[in-house]
Amino acid sequence: MKKRILIIGACGQIGTELTNFLREKHGSHKVIASDIREGDDELMESGPFEVLDAMDYDAVQDVVINYEITDVYLMAAMLSATAEKFPMKAWNLNMDSLFNILNLAKEGKVNKVFWPSSIAVFGATTPKQDTPQRTVMEPSTVYGISKQTGERWCEYYNKRFGVDVRSIRYPGIVSYKTLPGGGTTDYAIDIFHKALKHQNYICFLNAETTLPMMYMEDAIRATVGIMEADEADIKIRSSYNLAAMSFNPEEISESIKKHIPNFEISYQPDFRQDIADSWPSSINDSAARDDWGWQHRYALDEMTEEMLENLKGEYA
Ligand code: SER
Repeated sequence: MKKRILIIGACGQIGTELTNFLREKHGSHKVIASDIREGDDELMESGPFEVLDAMDYDAVQDVVINYEITDVYLMAAMLSATAEKFPMKAWNLNMDSLFNILNLAKEGKVNKVFWPSSIAVFGATTPKQDTPQRTVMEPSTVYGISKQTGERWCEYYNKRFGVDVRSIRYPGIVSYKTLPGGGTTDYAIDIFHKALKHQNYICFLNAETTLPMMYMEDAIRATVGIMEADEADIKIRSSYNLAAMSFNPEEISESIKKHIPNFEISYQPDFRQDIADSWPSSINDSAARDDWGWQHRYALDEMTEEMLENLKGEYA
């Protein structure tokens, strides 16, 4: 059967790069990008694009039918920090968009679904180090509650209706192409921009806040990797733990100082500190490695080099 992919949330931090990657891999016309508003010129000109409200079932169904979509990547979501400001809006967006796609898949209109979960599904009572795949989960953020609930529904739709839904618990994703919006891990991107621009950064998390992180290239490989794995190898239908590296603001600033010796970091933690404090420091992702062969490539210093190299033109 011919593959046709719909990416919902194609203008976001991960969506942009996922769209580029999949268009290069499968051909532009096979990958339909969509978002609530139009994206930048590069994205708009690289293939088909639809303005689409992920919460509007009829509109999503129309796009799925018109383009004969087989695979959906649902990347639209409100992230942790913004969701704390707009709890109901976040809940409605994160849940309605998921139900729309799960129901289309249940009705046989879509074959395969990717839906991202997050380290935010864990909470303060979860073991912080080497957090297991299966453990205590008491998320305390709206975002985390929506992701944990979404995981339960994914598993339910798989077991009850045979929906082929696949999911990863993303750590913080670091990238240079498209800025993230409203996440707690966003500091690890902002710091590179400020380092190149001002040689100093005021961090909204404290120096010791260690969080699981990943470079975008790894995140894209994981996302496409789980979608291309044999169906029988995807044994977990809630969401897989996924890891690459863990670092705190002090450690990333030391890594930056190897290239920008005058770089200085100072700390003014805000409400996002509480969110970060409720999340794990490191993740055990052996299930993803065993079941579908996940392997990361980037560690902190390699990521720092790539980020600085790719961003320096913007601040030259
Ligand atoms: N990066 C996300 C956030 O900070 C976590 O999934 O909200």
